[in-house]
Amino acid sequence: MFKWQESFSSNVKEFDEQHKKLFALGNQLLDVVHASRNTDHYDDIMEALDELKEYTVYHFNAEEELMLTYNYPKLMSHKMQHKKFLGKVEELLSKDIDKNQVDVTLELLTFLADWIQNHILVTDSQYGDFFNKHGEY
Ligand SMILES: [Fe+2]
Ligand SMILES: [Fe+2]
Repeated sequence: MFKWQESFSSNVKEFDEQHKKLFALGNQLLDVVHASRNTDHYDDIMEALDELKEYTVYHFNAEEELMLTYNYPKLMSHKMQHKKFLGKVEELLSKDIDKNQVDVTLELLTFLADWIQNHILVTDSQYGDFFNKHGEY
């Protein structure tokens, strides 16, 4: 279960809200995994994956746009991490999901949990002070 905590805050409200939404999408996937133990949930898994991908692209663009606006010094390396994440999602989407529903979803959830820890809690948390100095909260 993905649970939001105040300590995860990046100090930029818009991005916190978007991160919360990513947590919600993670929980949705978790529900699909539980439901997939007995019955076929291919459509649900595909829907959850597509939604995650779509929302992630939206969120990354939002972060990168604001970074560009204020010339964030770590824009390039931050962008690289975003690109890597999307590459992994694409890779998972190209796997034979229909035959390995639970495995693929579990892999995705593990990856998402890892991503949350490493990117949102580390890399994203670095831009808070920078944006705050530019009047973005
Ligand atoms: Fe983020
Ligand atoms: Fe980010």
